[in-house]
Amino acid sequence: MINFGTVGTGWITESFIKAAELSGQFQLRAVYSRTDEKAKKMAESYNADTFYTSIEEMAQSTEIEAVYIASPNSHHFEHALLFLKNKKHVICEKPIFSNKKELEQAFQTAKENGVFLFEAIRNIHTPNFAILKENLSKAGKLRSALLPYIQYSSRYDLYLKGEEPNIFSAAFSGGALVDLGVYPLFLAVGLFGEPQKVAYHPVKLRTGVDGSGTLIMEYDDFVCTIMCSKTSHSVIPCEIHGEAGTFVLPEAAPISKIQFIDSHTKESEYMGIWQEEQDMVYEATRFAEIIGTKDLKTYEELKKLSKIVIGITEEARRQNGIVFGTEKE
Ligand SMILES: NC(=O)c1ccc[n+]([C@@H]2O[C@H](COP(=O)([O-])OP(=O)(O)OC[C@H]3O[C@@H](n4cnc5c(N)ncnc54)[C@H](OP(=O)(O)O)[C@@H]3O)[C@@H](O)[C@H]2O)c1
Repeated sequence: MINFGTVGTGWITESFIKAAELSGQFQLRAVYSRTDEKAKKMAESYNADTFYTSIEEMAQSTEIEAVYIASPNSHHFEHALLFLKNKKHVICEKPIFSNKKELEQAFQTAKENGVFLFEAIRNIHTPNFAILKENLSKAGKLRSALLPYIQYSSRYDLYLKGEEPNIFSAAFSGGALVDLGVYPLFLAVGLFGEPQKVAYHPVKLRTGVDGSGTLIMEYDDFVCTIMCSKTSHSVIPCEIHGEAGTFVLPEAAPISKIQFIDSHTKESEYMGIWQEEQDMVYEATRFAEIIGTKDLKTYEELKKLSKIVIGITEEARRQNGIVFGTEKE
């Protein structure tokens, strides 16, 4: 059992706590919030022994071995580094950091302190991702893929009223690609590997970040198109087109179903399995396994995926002059 603490008190932290509990591998011990009231409420709701309003104190405490970080994107690096330096394993929400430089430094700090650092991306740890990967060759030579993640955000209403919610703010390392686009991006990189070339076409907001955008990923004889948006809604599924057949997924995360349609017969086959509603249980289980067995092979594979994905989002931002607050000085 891994004793852990949490940073951030949004709904996603509650989801992770429930999933971590469901995995049977984690025990919540401590909760951090900037405010006493929120920290106390969360600790009481989930039976944590302690709550903190000093993140340094929680990082130094011996009651936790790991931390789950779900603070605003721009704070991930500072928060992760603090816990890594205090020899705590870190599970950090997506997008893990703002850029590759931060990622390299944090992985190095994790190594120096003998702990693991994970990016909490929910789709690539699901059983259906593994099934899809195993069966991908059925599609034959891949020619195109369309992977959308288009979901209207209630925080866009606030933006329209003149506010600047964290997720639409350059100061907080926000924007559609790093917030939602990373799901199809992990799916693409996990299935097809690193592209030779990327081109991002964003629709930028007055805050300087992308409210939506289309990312073209070029491979040998194959192009993958990722569409992401927080300013509109879509019901189109993800599709991967090969000469022999097409895979259809209702969504890039958590990959609830997998349909395969034969190009010649047009017959369908369904190969996904039922997944837990608390789908973060799969990442929690994998991270616990890696920590428990010191599985460096899987760890290196995950590190590589995170590095490729952050390299792509950084390049996409570079092409379009999207600069985060932490990068301005
Ligand atoms: N995996 C998923 O499916 C999923 C889903 C949603 C979000 N996420 C990720 O989870 C992270 C948090 O997302 P969120 O929407 O909950 O973000 P958020 O509302 O902007 O902030 C998260 C938490 O950070 C603290 N916080 C807020 N503003 C802050 C500030 N200015 N300075 C320092 N701390 C601040 C708050 O906790 P306290 O007030 O208690 O300190 C808040 O609960 C993001 O990285 C996001 O990408 C992942």
